[in-house]
Amino acid sequence: MCGIVGYIGPRDATAIILNGLKRLEYRGYDSAGLAVIHDGKIDVRRDAGKLSRLVELIESEPISGSPGIGHTRWATHGEPSARNAHPHLGSTGEVVVVHNGIVENYLELKDELSAEGVVFNSDTDTETIVHLVEHYQSTGLDLSDSARKTFTQIQGAHGIVLLSSKEPDKMVCARIGNAGGVVIGLGDGENFIASDIPAILEHTRKVIFLDSRQMAVVTRDNVHIETLEGRPVDPQVHIVSWDPVAAEKGEYRHFMQKEIHEQVRSLTDTLAGRVDFEKGQIRLPELNLTPEFAQRLDRIFITACGTAAHAGMVGKILIEKIARIPCEVQLGSEFRYSDPITNKNSLVLSISQSGETADTLAAMEEGRKKGATLWSVVNAIGSQAMRIADGFISMQAGPEVGVASTKAFTAPLVDLYMLAVLLADMRGVIDNTVRKTLVADLRLVPDLASRALNTEPGVEIVAGRLKDIRDCLYLGRGINMPIAFEGALKLKEISYVHAEGYPAGEMKHGPIALIDKMMPVVCIAPKDPWHDKMISQIQQAKARGGTVIAIATEGDELVGSLADLTLWVPECPWMLSPIVTVIPLQLLAYHIAAMRGLDVDQPRNLAKSVTVE
Ligand code: F6R
Repeated sequence: MCGIVGYIGPRDATAIILNGLKRLEYRGYDSAGLAVIHDGKIDVRRDAGKLSRLVELIESEPISGSPGIGHTRWATHGEPSARNAHPHLGSTGEVVVVHNGIVENYLELKDELSAEGVVFNSDTDTETIVHLVEHYQSTGLDLSDSARKTFTQIQGAHGIVLLSSKEPDKMVCARIGNAGGVVIGLGDGENFIASDIPAILEHTRKVIFLDSRQMAVVTRDNVHIETLEGRPVDPQVHIVSWDPVAAEKGEYRHFMQKEIHEQVRSLTDTLAGRVDFEKGQIRLPELNLTPEFAQRLDRIFITACGTAAHAGMVGKILIEKIARIPCEVQLGSEFRYSDPITNKNSLVLSISQSGETADTLAAMEEGRKKGATLWSVVNAIGSQAMRIADGFISMQAGPEVGVASTKAFTAPLVDLYMLAVLLADMRGVIDNTVRKTLVADLRLVPDLASRALNTEPGVEIVAGRLKDIRDCLYLGRGINMPIAFEGALKLKEISYVHAEGYPAGEMKHGPIALIDKMMPVVCIAPKDPWHDKMISQIQQAKARGGTVIAIATEGDELVGSLADLTLWVPECPWMLSPIVTVIPLQLLAYHIAAMRGLDVDQPRNLAKSVTVE
């Protein structure tokens, strides 16, 4: 969950690393630190709190040098404090480490090291890494061999970067398991290391991704990669096309607001090159889908977490309706422990913005073990979920910085719709007319998103009414039931209001007891096949004194007359309706949180990329 940046080259590493960390702060933000080698010595600055605290510290106690490494932390072991912030120095002061992940056997290692007389200066598991490296250095091994021995001794999943003042011409890094990526950026006479691409994008677009159990020795002019077993690796260099400006806030107050508004563009990009409107066909070449596999595919498990899982719930309805393949959605954190019944005709389809979510990756591993084919729908290019899959769909949402996921929710809705049509076509379960209509409907998507964004002034009025609420219910049915879950998740995670998403038909079985005049009820009631049922639910909520905020299709006078407040969304084919219904709910959560004066982009206790189980 933490962010890492490293630099080696002729320039001063300090500013490069601080700028890179700024782009990664969303990954963790309870403490930050930086270390550089200067005149053969390691200098460290670190502090609790956000990156701005570290910047102030460095302004008052400047450092400079190269190479350098930096880190923003999301605490797992040890409270957020200066002493627990990374980088961590060893006892000699000659080795320093930044780390993402959990050393699962750290207590055991700590006992062993303490028995040898090592004194620990933090409560972190990370510190064991640096002491182990020093231990091996003291036996005469160089930095890379000491690092390799250490990497094979620590258990768990990790991204690690090490420097040693004994060998100031190199950085050593490794990726072990699924604790997040390690990407090496290739410059001219300088090189970079980062946990995520945006940190180094302003310097280079040429990158190498480390695979699990690979380590690299990075100097100014060279990158040498090998496996932890010592086998040299011939790396594949990727050229990244993301625009660094896309990682800036631009005219918006918060990244979340910017990303909500980017959905017209991200959905346009999602369709680009995949939809042949003339022939009425879908192309998803990176899936490596063969007609033979499409025919024998008999079960799909969608695995994902949080917002991505809600996208998966919509996807299930689309896949079952259009392609007629049984599909179930399992949370990543549950799938592995559910002893899933899979075989070679099953597909495990994961959805992930970061492509690094530990629970989702663990679910994929379980699928692999059980012989299923693995596909992923993923936003972060080159991430683990993309690389370990047999096929993937790249979301085309671009960098998502706000911790609350928005554009990486709507992109997979369209990806899964396209997938459903492609599977249906290959299996011959839809005729040409149906296929062409389904494909033609996709043409509407960018305009629908744009018109749903026009709800913003109305949303601000509703947000003004709701900003002081303590609880909120979100109700939906059918394809819009997951949108109720998603609307509630958005509200709770950024405005800290207790919110629950509920299948509207279940209200009478218990939760309706919660409704009184203090309880706002957001009813998602567009013109879809469940519309009539939602009308009854709105009436039931009104009869108990609840304040109803409806998401309704333009011109739907009945819903408008029943609800206290209505947000109007454009009419659209029902299978695309979640795109238009979720956008006002994203905006509603955003404006309530902004009106409450909260840190919208970095809500408390959360991190963008959840690389712990
Ligand atoms: C909510 C949110 C999280 C993520 C979840 C999965 O706004 O962002 O619920 O959706 O942590 O993350 P990814 O998609 O990176 O696997």
